[in-house]
Amino acid sequence: MDPAPLMGGCHKERKGGVDKLAIEGGVKLKGEVTVSGAKNAALPIMAATLLTDDACVIKGVPFLRDTNTMVKILRSLGKNVEFENGVLTVTGSKKLNHVADYKLVSTMRASFCVLGPLLGKLKKAKVSLPGGCVIGNRPVDLHLKGIKLLGADVDIDSGYVVANADRLKGAHIYLGGVYGSSVLATDNVMMAAVLAQGKTVVESAACEPEVADLAEFLIKMGAKIRGHGTPIIEIEGVKRLHGASHTIISDRIEAGTLMIAALITRGDILIKNVNFKHLGALIDKLEEAGAVITKPDDSIRVRYSKPLRAVNVTTLPYPGLPTDMQAQLMALMSVTSGTSVITEKIYPDRFVHVAELNRMGANIQKEGPHAIIQGVDVLSGAPVMASDLRASACLVLAGLAARGKTTVSRIYHLERGYENVEEKLKKLGARVWREKE
Ligand code: UD1
Repeated sequence: MDPAPLMGGCHKERKGGVDKLAIEGGVKLKGEVTVSGAKNAALPIMAATLLTDDACVIKGVPFLRDTNTMVKILRSLGKNVEFENGVLTVTGSKKLNHVADYKLVSTMRASFCVLGPLLGKLKKAKVSLPGGCVIGNRPVDLHLKGIKLLGADVDIDSGYVVANADRLKGAHIYLGGVYGSSVLATDNVMMAAVLAQGKTVVESAACEPEVADLAEFLIKMGAKIRGHGTPIIEIEGVKRLHGASHTIISDRIEAGTLMIAALITRGDILIKNVNFKHLGALIDKLEEAGAVITKPDDSIRVRYSKPLRAVNVTTLPYPGLPTDMQAQLMALMSVTSGTSVITEKIYPDRFVHVAELNRMGANIQKEGPHAIIQGVDVLSGAPVMASDLRASACLVLAGLAARGKTTVSRIYHLERGYENVEEKLKKLGARVWREKE
């Protein structure tokens, strides 16, 4: 039986044999590693190619389950896509399909970001609702609010968002939600507004570097955008966009995960192709805990030199500490002396990894949106199960630090977001290998 979870939205079901990752812990990771292009920048940028009939070339695209899912979606919508050695070439077509079906959208929530470009280009889109997710409820109200204000009629029909507009018209859109700004809603609204008539102002826009990278790509396509990377983005609609070439920014979450790998194994790693300006909150937290971090050129060197202190962590929208680093930081705090409190302000239910870390001997208690972590001397290897992308990274990190063997099952979650992770870890000295479930 395929053990892939049945909830839609965040999971990739894997056909055939299902692998687990085995780790013999206790090796201090040492050496150099290069970070791949950012998944969360690549996905919306790939979707943005729907806005033009011209050819687009995107470089530095990580070869991941999620980027491959987006390739399938673009093809299903009528695009020709070639993907080789990190270079994605998208061409055609004058006759785009406006329907993104459930099968593809349900395997990856980020597929929902085809809504904005389809609507912008075709003035109509039918995109399956992405569904629930193990990290908590993930509504799309802000996406819908944004496109409605741009003039689209929006219906929910049989699990699909159906959006139509005679024409899109620029608008003033306040896009803040209960948990702050939304990354993909900002992406969707921006991609619909670039071809709208007149000026759009998005207030409380997401400031994440991946949103700014999408804006840079749109500008290369001929869009008029200002203020990206800040909470107020201004977009002056244009009549058409043309093809463009772009290189994806480096993945700050992969970089952050590797930084923690250095610390949790008491190692010393030089991480290349990093934009440390994107990692300010994390660097600050790790330095507070006692990490030695230096920044030669486009690299970060992270070195363990003394026992780390427990620190409190609160996740926030950028430039705050990313929720996508919360699980990995919890693995680190679980072997740090003292008590730390992690507060999750983006996804208050994103704590499925707590029980798995406790199986490995961690002492963590969940209280609402907080996790209280009493550091232990050492974790002990155990069979554990990954529940989502970042939780799987957290368990791999815990396994690297643990005494004995850990097996992380449902490792396909890790493959959604970390390119060549096994090879990269092996090169740093880790003892990791794949086993069949
Ligand atoms: C993106 C990232 C994901 C990251 C998340 C938060 C991609 C492909 N994924 O997801 O890795 O964990 O940002 O940094 O870039 N919300 C609403 N209404 C909406 C949309 C969101 O209330 O219409 C809420 C969410 O439930 C959450 C918060 O806003 O509490 C932020 O979510 P959002 O930024 O939208 O996450 P994604 O863009 O889906």
